Amino acid sequence: MQIWTKLAALAAVLWAGAPLAAETLELSSPDGAITVTVTDDGGLATYSVEFEGEGVISPSRLGMLFADHHGFERGLAVTASTRAAKDSTWEQPWGERRLVRDQHNELAVTFAATQGPARQMTVRFRAFDTGIGFRYELTEQPALQGDLAIVEELTQFGVGEQTTMWYTPSDEFNRYEYLTSTSPAGKVDDAHTPATFRNPAGIHFAIHEAALVDYSSMSLGALRPGYFEARLRSWSGGPKVKTRAPFQSPWRTIQVAREAVGLINSDIILNLNEPNKLGEVSWVEPGKYVGIWWAMHINERSWGRDKIHGATTAETKRYIDFAAKHGFAGVLVEGWNIGWDGDWFNNGDLFRFAEPMPDFDLAELGRYAQSKGVRLIGHHETSANIANYESQMDAAFDLYQSVGVRQVKTGYVADAGDAVRVDANGIRRYEYHDSQFMVGHHLRVVQAAAKRQISINPHEPVKDTGLRRTYPNWMTREGARGMEFNAWGTPPNPPSHEPMLAFTRMLAGPMDFTPGIFDLRPNERLPVRPDIPRGDPSNRPQTTLAKQLALYVVLYSPLQMAADLPENYEAKLDAFQFIKDVEADWEQSVALAGEVGEYVAFARQGRKSKEWFLGAVTNEDARDLSVPLSFLETGKQYRAQIYRDGPDAHWDTNPYAIVIEEQVVTGGDAFAVRLASSGGVAVRFIPVSK
Ligand code: NOJ
Repeated sequence: MQIWTKLAALAAVLWAGAPLAAETLELSSPDGAITVTVTDDGGLATYSVEFEGEGVISPSRLGMLFADHHGFERGLAVTASTRAAKDSTWEQPWGERRLVRDQHNELAVTFAATQGPARQMTVRFRAFDTGIGFRYELTEQPALQGDLAIVEELTQFGVGEQTTMWYTPSDEFNRYEYLTSTSPAGKVDDAHTPATFRNPAGIHFAIHEAALVDYSSMSLGALRPGYFEARLRSWSGGPKVKTRAPFQSPWRTIQVAREAVGLINSDIILNLNEPNKLGEVSWVEPGKYVGIWWAMHINERSWGRDKIHGATTAETKRYIDFAAKHGFAGVLVEGWNIGWDGDWFNNGDLFRFAEPMPDFDLAELGRYAQSKGVRLIGHHETSANIANYESQMDAAFDLYQSVGVRQVKTGYVADAGDAVRVDANGIRRYEYHDSQFMVGHHLRVVQAAAKRQISINPHEPVKDTGLRRTYPNWMTREGARGMEFNAWGTPPNPPSHEPMLAFTRMLAGPMDFTPGIFDLRPNERLPVRPDIPRGDPSNRPQTTLAKQLALYVVLYSPLQMAADLPENYEAKLDAFQFIKDVEADWEQSVALAGEVGEYVAFARQGRKSKEWFLGAVTNEDARDLSVPLSFLETGKQYRAQIYRDGPDAHWDTNPYAIVIEEQVVTGGDAFAVRLASSGGVAVRFIPVSK
């Protein structure tokens, strides 16, 4: 410590009246690579994180301020600490892997205030081999009686000015749907989490949160260059969090790894969530689906009856037949209920969730689908009118349950800060999508759906913090730019988008990205009617066809859509075979290689078939990829069914060039392949039977 820093610390101590002798505690990950240091030096609750002896998070403050109660800011002293360790393995009903190991060391540090009314807060730290988590725990105590309004969480993250940061902005109208920026952390003002970093020592880390329940979301706000503080989203009219003691905050998480893929191969977000609270959940069914969806995004059909209504009984039967023929479990239908006619983006009050449009025979379609071994997938677009939705939600789920629906996609289309709440006085309030109010709303939906054995897939959601462990019917969600941006997003998703998502948004959990577009120039099709023009032709998936296939392995979702029109699949049945074969639920998953935003390769083993699949994608740079096949069982031979970019493939000039071939391989081989510009490769490995 420099002499001036020491003097400043001493002055702070004397001013605060805290005890002079600082208490400093250390916690290490089970493998010893990660160390967290916690201290009350200077009367401030402070932590820092190191990886293999090198700094990751420099000394950073902890604490919390309330509107009408004394908070935890300065004049704090460590008065107690406890330690624990755990090593257990638990089973996911569905997921990227069936068995999850939770191995961590724990240190809970109690800080007491040395000034003002007696009060204390505990910060519980857990150190895993792949990162750390910590949360605030406040017990019931005389100084914290009554309603508590959190006005500031003082948690800081000193990441370093020169550290490279990959992030999306957190204070913009389009919620989480922004392209990921790359910048020195010292130049970033605000960011959503997960935010991903690589410091000058080459260490990768990612800041996020786990178990976001009854609290507002955390984003990162620059305090000064290279130092972020936890910014909590406010209620309309404040405060940031309304609570009462006892309570605990969500976990603040910092995943840490030398290599970028180490961030992906980490289960700390799930491990920091509570176990399944729903009991028997065999009704939560991972699988693949098709739907009346892309047709609307490319202006071929409409949600309302103003143009060419998509959700008709006849059109839905066409999709059900297609799903049955090709082995898809579900058919999503959007635009089936009353409320879509006109400006639905701004008319959330008009949605009726238990009233089908006259040209959509819900009961008949539910029956027809099940007679073919398929289920309808429901859709509740709320346009973020929460009051309207919650007043109908129970009846809406009852109706869906009665026709055999097991999954519902919800939607919260509205600008950030425009989610409608009606308060106790009947006054309309407008809340943020990541506010405490919306955090509570999503859980109410998930719980109401669970009562009817229905699973949920929200779009325009609150970000994922691993609650699928506790509520396994919260299967997937959007929460980033998905495929739809390639229909109308101007600019569409660039070639780096998917290898970027893998290291950023996907660290939070599954995403309903809706891959599998086979007509890569959708806005160049003939208009269906002269009065319904196509969109801007520059909006198109900027990928090769092989990359579209690879996305089924790269971007994990237990509900995985084959998003294109049936006729586009019928036109390319050879490539479509991979989408038919690939699974959506995994026994194991491993990120094999990659760099943030550049490329990434995954191997995943199907939960049902036990077959392995490999998927890799690259950004605009073509590259040679070589990955060891050591995930395959040793001594066994496999038929590798390979879908790779053709030799002259290029996302822009030659996206359809694909080679589909078979090779016999073993686990001792390395798999070498050339990825085209914004290309990819998808492989299915079938054991050769003796
Ligand atoms: C936006 C969603 O992301 C999209 O999937 C859906 O089709 C529309 N909202 C309409 O609900």
